Amino acid sequence: MFLLWALPVALYLFYRWSVATYDYFEKRNIPYVKPVPFFGQVWSFFTQEKHAVDVASEGYYMFPNTRISGVFMLRTPAYLVHDPVLFKEMAIKDFDHFTDHVSEVTIEHDPLLARSLFFANGARWRHHRNGLSPAFTGSKMRNMFVLVAKSAGDAMDRLMVFSRGKSFTMELRDLYSKLGNDAMTSISFGVEVDSLTDPENEFFLKGKRLAKVDGLPGLKILMTTILPGLFKFLRLGVLYKDVNEFYQEAVATNIRYREKNYIKRPDFIHLMLQARKNQLNTEQSEDDGLQSAGFSTAETHTVESQKDGAAEKLQWQDIDITAAAASFFFGGIESTTTLLCFASYELAVNPDVQARLQIEVDRAREELEDGKTPTYEILQKMKYLDMVVSETLRRWAPFGLTNRRCTKDYTFTNTDGTKVTIERGLNISIPLKSFHLDEKFFPDPLRFDPERFADPNQINQDAYVPFGTGLRNCIGSRLALMQAKCFLFYMLSNFTLQPGTKLTIPLVLDETSAGLNAKHGFWMNLVPRYV
Ligand code: HEM
Repeated sequence: MFLLWALPVALYLFYRWSVATYDYFEKRNIPYVKPVPFFGQVWSFFTQEKHAVDVASEGYYMFPNTRISGVFMLRTPAYLVHDPVLFKEMAIKDFDHFTDHVSEVTIEHDPLLARSLFFANGARWRHHRNGLSPAFTGSKMRNMFVLVAKSAGDAMDRLMVFSRGKSFTMELRDLYSKLGNDAMTSISFGVEVDSLTDPENEFFLKGKRLAKVDGLPGLKILMTTILPGLFKFLRLGVLYKDVNEFYQEAVATNIRYREKNYIKRPDFIHLMLQARKNQLNTEQSEDDGLQSAGFSTAETHTVESQKDGAAEKLQWQDIDITAAAASFFFGGIESTTTLLCFASYELAVNPDVQARLQIEVDRAREELEDGKTPTYEILQKMKYLDMVVSETLRRWAPFGLTNRRCTKDYTFTNTDGTKVTIERGLNISIPLKSFHLDEKFFPDPLRFDPERFADPNQINQDAYVPFGTGLRNCIGSRLALMQAKCFLFYMLSNFTLQPGTKLTIPLVLDETSAGLNAKHGFWMNLVPRYV
């Protein structure tokens, strides 16, 4: 009898509690996406009707005349930035109001992820970003490029042997993630592996588990950004335990070996060991001509380490070096692979663009000593390659969304002249993909057209943000660009890409993946150019 009336009352109270916050934006006169009770805006995320990035960016298309709109993540209010200029102000001039990324991972449950740059916040982030930035300057990238080019060149030789002069069909995501794995294993962990012929090597297997952005880990990553409160409440870890342990052991052994044998190699472990001894510097004069790896290169900003007690206690422990290396893996492979897959797709379906790029590749090869191994400088000079890569990053932004957490109340003026105050603690999403596909900024936005980048002055640089903006922008943009360009250079030197019979045109995207992916794969015919 008691249950008969207690249950409905409990349900009613729960319902009232779940919707109690839903007048938040109404009171502040801010347009917002109408929430579904309890779920807020993320209902369609659970039903997987739409890609998570599109769910989170819904308000962008619903409210074209505002600089910001509101969303509810379950019952928690959050914001969506509509104006790229506002994003830039938050990320640079008013950075001290938005120093953090949204991150609910804890050192206890995710020892590596919580120490990695994307998820670290506060004093730890400042200390790490300040220490790691010199590892990504132009001159360090040029040194590292030798390792990337060797790894890609070796893989390409094996692919040529495999083809025996005949065309063959391949799923390119698989190929590029193997190439990316080998290059990143070499530059992040100082170990050379060959995942094309030995796909069972432990670095590849663990790397796949580390960088997995679909299935359960993908869901957990989405939860950390879309439902941070719930994620924290459930006390989940994102990375698998064996993955955490594998990398910690691999890096610790590697460090001991180098220190004992005085080994120097131009890779991240070496640079981070230098950072630990405060010996990692920016070689200004050398860097001057090398800083840009292409139009899309993210701007470099100086981040000072905090001069208080908290920061002074932070030192580069082995685990911090492991976390940094693992995060380059985690953040780098998947996104660079995505860039390569979509660039290859566009080249295959736009044969005129591919032919023009091959002419540029062939001319560049004439300048090379051995006629085949690219140098950092040669790639920097290839203008059309840069246009193709820049347009791919616009049309198919691998990171469709980034975020900030408000760390200090922030007031700005909205389009209608009213003042809006974002309160400390609120999360903010920034829809990078929506900026890129907005015809206000890029006419005929769905058309793949590298010509847009022929004159960089024509590009709206506030709205073109494949690597984010400001002090928390992507630290790895130079590496990503040089690696992607190097792989494309080798690929187009040796093969012409044609759509395979299993390739869906236009591409059908996988709405369930946390990243950007083709539902049915990137099936291409690789036709050898020289037999
Ligand atoms: C095409 C490839 C890539 C794309 C499109 C990409 C994009 C991004 C974006 C959009 C952000 C967030 C920026 C912001 O919030 O303003 C980011 C952050 C980051 N990326 Fe990348 N990224 C790529 C490759 C890489 C690579 C190769 C590495 C490492 C070697 C890397 C390491 C990072 C790190 C550590 C952060 C966090 C920075 C911080 O919070 O201070 N990324 N990336």
